[in-house]
Amino acid sequence: MEKYNKIYSSSNVSEDIKPSQTISLIWKNFLSGGSILDLGCGQGRDSLFLAKNDFLVTAIDSSEVAINQIKVKKNEFSFDNLELICGDISDFKIENGKYDAIICRNVLNFLDKEKTLKIVNNLKTNSKNGAYIVIDVFTKDDPSFISDNKFVCYFEEQELLKIFSDFKIVYYLENIILDNGHPGFELPHKHGVSKIIVQK
Ligand SMILES: C[S@@+](CC[C@H](N)C(=O)[O-])C[C@H]1O[C@@H](n2cnc3c(N)ncnc32)[C@H](O)[C@@H]1O
Repeated sequence: MEKYNKIYSSSNVSEDIKPSQTISLIWKNFLSGGSILDLGCGQGRDSLFLAKNDFLVTAIDSSEVAINQIKVKKNEFSFDNLELICGDISDFKIENGKYDAIICRNVLNFLDKEKTLKIVNNLKTNSKNGAYIVIDVFTKDDPSFISDNKFVCYFEEQELLKIFSDFKIVYYLENIILDNGHPGFELPHKHGVSKIIVQK
């Protein structure tokens, strides 16, 4: 993805391997090892952290800049348990029953809704019984929704809850939150988000 190649080219992977809030919430309480799939892994904060903690991780992103940056860290720390794939998450075939957790954070909004829903259904069908699925998306409450700089698709209120009504809901948050800044948008700003953790 050209936009992200540009953003990541001017932003180094942070020196300390620190996971997202969502992953720091679940990894100790729910995960006890096993295989993790990180769809749209970005610069790999979650994938690197989980690899460091001995999970078997497969991380995919369409930005070759991001994948190459993660590769440097992987080599530096000899993370043989981290598989990196540069590609489109909508083309990735999820092997049935392979993963103990599937992470899909802040990436689905970059695809059109039809592809997004197909991916989510794939996650539902192909995840292992007992596996966790972690999804963060932007909702129509995101300020970008009424701007000229829109994502490709947005989620409705409670949409993720409805989609996963047949799974065990472990955590759900839907709100407008303050983001302190990230590569590509360093200043504090607000996001309308929906975050869900479910168990099959
Ligand atoms: C906002 S970043 C999120 C990164 C990471 N999940 C996180 O939360 O820190 C979005 C990422 O999705 C990737 N991306 C966008 N569309 C994609 C696609 N169709 N397939 C794979 N990656 C994609 C971008 O390259 C970018 O790294």
